[in-house]
Amino acid sequence: MAAQGSCTVIVGCQWGDEGKGKIVDVLAEGVDIVARYQGGANAGHTVHVGEDEFVLHQIPSGILHEGKKCLLGNGVVLDIRQFFEEYDALIARGVDLRGRVGVSNRAQLLFPYHRLLDNAAEDSAAQKIGTTGRGIGPAYEDKAGRRGVRVADLGNTEKLQERVHIAQDRICRRVEQLGAVVTEQLDMEMAEALALGDRLLALGTDVGRDISRALLDGRRVLLEGAQGTALDLDHGTYPFVTSSNTTAAAAATGTGIGPTSIDTVVGVVKAYTTRVGEGPFPTACDPKMDEHIRALGGEFGATTGRPRRCGWFDSVLARFAAQVNGLTGLAVTKLDVLDTIPELQVATGYRMPDGTVTDDFPADTWSLSGVEPVYQTLPGWEQSTCEVRKLENLPANARAYLDRVAELANAPVHWISVGSKRSQIIEVA
Ligand code: IMP
Repeated sequence: MAAQGSCTVIVGCQWGDEGKGKIVDVLAEGVDIVARYQGGANAGHTVHVGEDEFVLHQIPSGILHEGKKCLLGNGVVLDIRQFFEEYDALIARGVDLRGRVGVSNRAQLLFPYHRLLDNAAEDSAAQKIGTTGRGIGPAYEDKAGRRGVRVADLGNTEKLQERVHIAQDRICRRVEQLGAVVTEQLDMEMAEALALGDRLLALGTDVGRDISRALLDGRRVLLEGAQGTALDLDHGTYPFVTSSNTTAAAAATGTGIGPTSIDTVVGVVKAYTTRVGEGPFPTACDPKMDEHIRALGGEFGATTGRPRRCGWFDSVLARFAAQVNGLTGLAVTKLDVLDTIPELQVATGYRMPDGTVTDDFPADTWSLSGVEPVYQTLPGWEQSTCEVRKLENLPANARAYLDRVAELANAPVHWISVGSKRSQIIEVA
């Protein structure tokens, strides 16, 4: 029977940090359930509610809306200690979580030894990825290698001990081979993590079943992605990617519903582009503009505090993201950051190292490092957009900029964010 509710995916269309947390926070108002479908504590969603700032790493941003149910799907790698740190911090700040958080029994657990290996591998690598150091790659490696531990396993003490022991042993040997030292700290951290097992198990649920039932009951569901399309394990700038599928199709696999249950896919793009970590970044600005935009946009990582590289809007990537994710619309964030810049560049294509121009996003990451963007220059609007709440009240040049973005990306703009506050949003009718 066809689902009667509605199911929307929110997906990042650049290299993460597009402002998905803000869009989820705004859209969560109108839904009943928000579920995360991949990633782990590498994500950092910053949300402003009134004067308060919340940075969420694992719990969906929807948690800041009273009464909404928030779920973590099977596609997530869940760091138990970090999860309860965040959970308890929300309670301490007065957020009522009772009966509101559920974790898939099929979600993989990320243990302190995964973090240890992530950092040892990065420290010793000739070609660094620039990971967040949260253990994401090693946890997904254990999942794919069928050595992982899932939430449901927490209920079987004997099996759990055995699986954890084998996985930990293997990783510790690898860490030592990489020249790093395993100290007693790891045992302490492991004991802390495992001591939280029963508490996590109590939140365990069948997320796919929960969402399917909710949809049959006519409820509205939001599936929240982390990172972005260019960091997707298959479609991103491999190997400079994260270790999960970040794109919209993964929202079905990562929560346990069928793809036909999804009806809307909102792609989130910043009005310009940023990237943290290593890897090619075709539309990177010159050092002066890079610094200028970073200062205007406060472009520092929410998880690691690292400065983000800043660049112009890249419509080759946006168009690719529209295709890979099957976007039904775009949410353009941080338009206000461009308010004072007199002239803006938008990349319409790439000049390849052999001189040809393409508007396809290349699979070959090494040639992507050598492309020259072909830019179109658009006039800035040089006035504040922060107080604008209706499309028709935006300056003409800002509207022209957004029209061009939509045309090049091949997806209509449905939302425009003009500041970090919940109220600073324009819904395009
Ligand atoms: P990992 O996900 O920690 O393994 O990092 C792999 C790559 O993804 C690195 O380039 C990170 O900087 C990047 N990355 C991971 N999570 C985020 C995020 O939430 N925002 C932006 N970049 C991220």
